[in-house]
Amino acid sequence: MRRTLIAGNWKMNGSFAANHTLLTEIIAGLPADNAVETLVCAPAPYLAQCAEILGKSTVAWGAQDVSAHAKGAFTGEVSASMLADSGCKYVIVGHSERRAYHAESSELVAQKALKALSENIIPVVCVGETLEQRESGETSAIVAAQLQAVMDVLTAEQMGSIVVAYEPVWAIGTGKTATPQMAQDVHAFLRSQLAIKSAEAANAVRILYGGSMKPENAKELLAMEDIDGGLIGGAALKAADFLAIISAC
Ligand code: 13P
Repeated sequence: MRRTLIAGNWKMNGSFAANHTLLTEIIAGLPADNAVETLVCAPAPYLAQCAEILGKSTVAWGAQDVSAHAKGAFTGEVSASMLADSGCKYVIVGHSERRAYHAESSELVAQKALKALSENIIPVVCVGETLEQRESGETSAIVAAQLQAVMDVLTAEQMGSIVVAYEPVWAIGTGKTATPQMAQDVHAFLRSQLAIKSAEAANAVRILYGGSMKPENAKELLAMEDIDGGLIGGAALKAADFLAIISAC
């Protein structure tokens, strides 16, 4: 059985004061018997704050990006070992906002995933098509190529330990959500692609849905067979909404 993972991606939001309120409300609101793995991915300057507040809780924290380099003269970059030092369990790689605004290629995303794994950090590899690509029937080809670049550099065993997030670009921050069936179709396709590399990996890898997931639509999406959790942007910034999504699992 794949354990459901609900991950918040705060993107470039937060402050010490706001994070303190959000995190303490999340901890206080989680049910004592919470079976859902819960994660927040914070901006790098706040990872130490996450460690301090979440350290004794069941909530994990992670980063939103990692350098493809190990160390050295790469001004502005944050290495996987630094994220490990900050207690990160996960790191998002290849978010569509990084692919679009920072020209990240799928090959670079794959190198980032490798670096994360080298420090025992689980990469959450994001894939997804734009509206134009969906309308021209390219969804499968796009997400397959994005995933393939990662499969090309990871071993079958490493593949089994990653998380994949399907985030249709047209659904991110737009209020438009893929219908549960639309998302399920892509998730099942991604799982079939993983199976080409390894049947065990295909079975083990959690595939999250991201794109305007909120309390009102979470239950239906999370009920689909191949949707193993959510990667949540806007709704992860409000404790009540984030907790409501967790209880929808
Ligand atoms: P929204 O939930 O705000 O649409 O963002 C989704 C996302 O990009 C999570 O990584």
